[in-house]
Amino acid sequence: MKQTIKNIASLLVTCTLLAASCGCAVKSEPEPPEKDLIVVGFSQLGSESDWRIANTQSMLDALSEENGFDLLFDNAKQKQENQFLAIRNFIQQGVDYIVLAPIAETGWDSVLQEAKDAGLPVIIVDRQIQVEDESLYVSWVGSDFLKEGRTAVQWLENEISLKRMQNENIRILHIQGTDGATAQILRTHALNSAVASHPLWSIAARLQGEFTEACGYEVVRDFLETGESFNVIYSENDNMTFGAMQALDEAGLTYGPDGDIIIITFDAVHAALEECLAGNINLCVECNPMHGPRVANLIRQLEAGETPEKLVYVDETWFSYRRISETDLSERPY
Ligand code: AHR
Repeated sequence: MKQTIKNIASLLVTCTLLAASCGCAVKSEPEPPEKDLIVVGFSQLGSESDWRIANTQSMLDALSEENGFDLLFDNAKQKQENQFLAIRNFIQQGVDYIVLAPIAETGWDSVLQEAKDAGLPVIIVDRQIQVEDESLYVSWVGSDFLKEGRTAVQWLENEISLKRMQNENIRILHIQGTDGATAQILRTHALNSAVASHPLWSIAARLQGEFTEACGYEVVRDFLETGESFNVIYSENDNMTFGAMQALDEAGLTYGPDGDIIIITFDAVHAALEECLAGNINLCVECNPMHGPRVANLIRQLEAGETPEKLVYVDETWFSYRRISETDLSERPY
């Protein structure tokens, strides 16, 4: 724990000024005891999507001074080297805890060994990491990305039968997120398994959209120029979906429940639910970004000497054009 030196200094200055101004002994009220803040260094991978912005806000809100934390925040701008640098800075500054939202699963062994050698507990949030020594992090909290992917493909299978399309070729345009991120790996895995077990399903193309709207737009726009046919978009996040929709609009293609292309998207942020309710997106699979309170609880558990669960999965749901209401939108905090 770190004393807030700033507060002590300002208290001393106040006392000196008071004594000087009234020229008599200072008889001050007893000050409330100095509050110890828990210093947390948080390395956020970037600000690539609406989901990420909601996730950052959730962390800032939960790890606030009012809640007993002194948060050092670093935005790595989608570069793992920046995350290494941030972690090394946190170690040097002697924080109490490090929280890492990793861009990709691999490459963390050395830098987390340094944190461990410095005696700093590390909490992983959102995507997972693959390390030789599991003791390099205390706990992980995030989504079950494989379950999300399976939810999506099961919904597609059901939708195809409801629409009596079982005998049609299903050509899937797959827009992938950042290579090596858990959300990309496992959502892709669920799709690949489903394609392998459905003889009429195939991948029209795989496009690298980096989880951003700009990339989603560009790769779909360029793909449409090839003239390849497809009737489903499986997009690994909402922002890439928004970019894809813009490219489809420009090309005069129709999508959504009444259009020619079924759109499946992940995250279910407010803007995506609006599109779903408006009949422009068929399925939104939820990925919950509100991890701040969960991370704060994990830290409190550690402070109390408890051993938290190694993996903490959050509950998530899904929304389709058949299963969405105004209430879902009004209840959405992000
Ligand atoms: O790791 C979670 C994913 O990262 C979200 O689906 C995406 O929007 C974000 O960029």
